[in-house]
Amino acid sequence: MSSAPEKTFYLETFGCQMNAHDSEKVVGTLVAEGYRQVPTVEEAGLVLYNTCSIRDKAEQKVFHRLNDYKKLQKQGKKFGVLGCVAQQEGEKIFERAPYVSMVCGSASYRNLPAMLVQIEAGNTRVTGLDDRETDECFETEFTARTNPHRGYITIIEGCDKFCSYCVVPYTRGKERSRTSESVLAEARQMADLGYTEIQLLGQNVNSYRDPAGKRSFAELLAAVGEVPGIRRVRFTTSHPRDFGRDIIHAIDAVPTLCDHVHLPVQSGSTRVLNAMQRLYTRDQYLERISWMKAAKRDISITSDIIVGFPGETEEDFADTLSLLDEVGYDGIFGFKYSPRPNTPAIGLVDAIPEEEKARRLTFLQEKQRELQRISYRKHIGQVLQVMVEGKNEARKQWAGRTSQNKILNFTAPEDASPEHGSYVPVRVTVAFPNSLAGELAV
Ligand code: 5AD
Ligand code: SF4
Repeated sequence: MSSAPEKTFYLETFGCQMNAHDSEKVVGTLVAEGYRQVPTVEEAGLVLYNTCSIRDKAEQKVFHRLNDYKKLQKQGKKFGVLGCVAQQEGEKIFERAPYVSMVCGSASYRNLPAMLVQIEAGNTRVTGLDDRETDECFETEFTARTNPHRGYITIIEGCDKFCSYCVVPYTRGKERSRTSESVLAEARQMADLGYTEIQLLGQNVNSYRDPAGKRSFAELLAAVGEVPGIRRVRFTTSHPRDFGRDIIHAIDAVPTLCDHVHLPVQSGSTRVLNAMQRLYTRDQYLERISWMKAAKRDISITSDIIVGFPGETEEDFADTLSLLDEVGYDGIFGFKYSPRPNTPAIGLVDAIPEEEKARRLTFLQEKQRELQRISYRKHIGQVLQVMVEGKNEARKQWAGRTSQNKILNFTAPEDASPEHGSYVPVRVTVAFPNSLAGELAV
């Protein structure tokens, strides 16, 4: 009796946490369809890239990958492009990389099983690109989560903000929220499976609107934090425009909500914020920061910053630098502005030379590093609860993460062997700009 050949796939993921979580759902869906995931391109019958197009560099990566492996197509391998580059470039990908036989945007993943059947039937131009206006989110019962203790839950997809530099509203479509009941059902299910940390995901989590009208975002946060077994809840990303005080009240009231907020400012200059269509001024942003500083808990704040936006003067850049001093961030992700197709800013003259953008970025990052070198020291002597994430055998050190999302490496006596995923108290003895070190406190 001959059996059908085994169906295998390789999947590589680029980009943000939304993409990482989409990939977990894609893997779950493919496995449910009888595919087996393999760790190398060489072993796979189907090669998938889940792509990012937020900056040009990210987009180019996938075309380099495709080029590296194009000769393998002759061995009968099939290639598929998923995610944001797929949505942005659409069928043009078939012209640019003719060996690709599937192009599928993130709003169309629910059609993957049908698309796989078409690929298997030999169709070489299978597309899923038309669903961005759908009201449904990609909910699947087959999510293959990669970490057994901490997991993502999508609460809202898409974005309606249309910042002038950003592709997301075009690649991920309009905002669609899931009902709070379905989010809570997933949280309970994860708690039953032993997960203790949940990260609520959305391009814009605080624009969340329960389609059933039952809970606000802050109420949903609190409800997830109260699910028995859940010890930590994080959420990302928040937009300053929709960031209400009720979120801070929830963090103060519910101890399982982590004391960390990622609130991207993008620029410290109101003039540039205007050109970016960010819908808030520097002062309005700082008002939200003052709410967080007035909280009972010590809330850690992180941000994203773009340098070299068209028209950004030395003075505008100086405003961004002074904002770092005023806020006292615990971390920033800095980026050089990258013009993106379809976005309104593409029409602006991108007059700042690449070298000048690079200079500003380096300056920004060095300044932030200096600030963190000092601010992380406040933890010395504190005992912080960490979730244990791993062990560095060579250094005989465990790695943990604090509620504020800081890395805390620690030593422990020979006979104490903290398990991955457990929560232990650690006394901080040393501070670095990006991490802390200490010893198990027992
Ligand atoms: N150029 C540079 N950085 C960008 N980001 C988004 N779009 C661009 C762009 N065109 C940054 C923003 C956002 C983060 C995810 O990526 O800072 O918050
Ligand atoms: Fe990249 Fe944005 Fe798409 Fe995430 S949503 S993968 S950051 S383009």
